[in-house]
Parts: sequence; C-alpha cells; structure tokens
Amino acid sequence: MILIDGKKVAKEVKEEIAQETTEIIKKNGRAPHLAAILVGHDGGSESYVNFKMKDCQEVGFQSSLIRFEDDVTEKELFAAIDKLNNDDGVDGFIVQLPLPKHIDENKVLEAIKPEKDVDGFHPVNVGKMTAGLASFVSATPMGITILLKRYGIETSGKHCVILGRSNIVGRPMSILMSQREMNSTVTVLHSGSQNIKEICISADILIVAMGKPGFVTEDMVKDGAVIIDVGTTRIKSDKTKSGFKLVGDVDFDNVAEKCSYITPVPGGVGPMTRLALLLNTLQAAK
Ligand code: GUN
Repeated sequence: MILIDGKKVAKEVKEEIAQETTEIIKKNGRAPHLAAILVGHDGGSESYVNFKMKDCQEVGFQSSLIRFEDDVTEKELFAAIDKLNNDDGVDGFIVQLPLPKHIDENKVLEAIKPEKDVDGFHPVNVGKMTAGLASFVSATPMGITILLKRYGIETSGKHCVILGRSNIVGRPMSILMSQREMNSTVTVLHSGSQNIKEICISADILIVAMGKPGFVTEDMVKDGAVIIDVGTTRIKSDKTKSGFKLVGDVDFDNVAEKCSYITPVPGGVGPMTRLALLLNTLQAAK
C-alpha cells in the first residue's frame, strides 16, 4: 500500500507556483492578487480563509481579506463583489461559504465575474468545465486529479465510483473523471442509491465525499483499489492541542492494507485543495 502524501505534493507544486510567480511579476509588473470575502466568525471558515491568505504569502501572491459581520445585508455584499469585479488590481476572489441564512448563496456566486471566479463555482465555469472547455475548476476535484497524475495512477478504462453528488466535489469530480483526459468509467452513488456496498466493491478507484466518518469499511473495498478520502469531519479529541481532530469518511486502519493507494486524513486531499485555489489565481493573473 502506498500512502498518497498530499502535503509533499502540495509543497512541490507550491514551489513551482512560486517560481512562476516571479516570472509573472516581471511580465505584469505586479504579483497575482487573490481577495477573499469572509462573513461572520465561524471558526472553520476563519481558519480556512487564514490558510488561504497564508498560502498566498508563501508563493509571493498579494492577498486581501474583506470582512463583514453576520448581519451584513445582501446589498452591502453585492457592493463589495461589484467593487472586486471591477478592480483591475485583483485577479481573482472568493466568497467563503457557508453564508448566513438571510443571504442567497446562489445569487452571490452568480454575481462574481466568471473570469475572477477562482473557486470555479459560477455556472459559467461549471458549464465550461462540463463541456471540456478552458475554465476554473473547483478546488477539491482539481486537487484530486493532480494527486492521481503525480502518483502515476492509471485511470483510463478503470471503474471510478464516487460517493457523494455535491456541487463542490462529487458532481464535478464525476465529470472530470469521465472526460477523455482521465478516461474512467464513472458511477456516482448518493443518498438515493441502492446496493452501495456491491457497487463500491467493483471500484478500481473509490472517491469518497460524504462527510460521514468511517462510512467506507473494509468489506466495501476491492483488493488493490485506489481510495481517495475527501471527508473532513471535525470531532472532539482530548489528544490534540486544539481539542479537535479531523476524521475521514474511510475506516482507514482497516481499509488501508487492502488498497494499492490511499489518502490519509489529514494530509491527503486537504493540502491539495488549498493549492488549486493558487493555481486558478495564477491562471487568472496570466
Ligand atoms: N467553504 C468550504 N469550502 C469552500 C471553498 O472551496 N470555497 C469557498 N468559497 N467556500 C468554501
């Protein structure tokens, strides 16, 4: 079994981005610039955005954080989006999700100019990606395809089973894996699916994005399968300084020995997800 080291690959790709950033600064006269809008004080969102800003610093990007309180109005938020859409000094920006209930998330995502939508969530980018056209691809699916390629994992003709159909992970992942470049035969399983165990056993590549800790057990995995675990559920732990630990959707200890490759949680898909945002921003700056 080979452990897929997302941290190591992310470090390598980050170094490549930093080198390219130096070239872009020479050519454009300024560094690529990523902005983030953060609403409220959710601990998870705050730490994600802080990591994104830190990543920018490490590769030589400029970054800006625009913060609003939970009671921000849609009008105020749209004004901030409009400003970033029209700011030539900003190459790309994101609005960190989730947003408070009184804000319509879809309306917000659609307000972002597609050319600056480095999250790849705008329907124009989703449509282009689906049609196989140049577009911003959302972070987790992009990170996973990079991991598969860097580890030289054969995807062509393989049966790839994806557990979960979210707009952020499962659905775009299923589209990328079915396109000519990855060339897999794809099955998407979701909460309405039957015979989940039987179908999972037939997977050469199993990508799990459900948010259900330990859902995939040993009896659901074929010998030699490739397992990509996207699950990141924060659970309380008295063994860590923070009082929390991240757990995946795969029962790692029992499944790992059966696999040819497996991603750990943390340290597998997570570091790659952050990287994809940098790659999209680099593309936007170009
Ligand atoms: N919330 C959780 N993941 C993401 C992400 O990738 N982008 C944004 N904007 N919000 C998120």
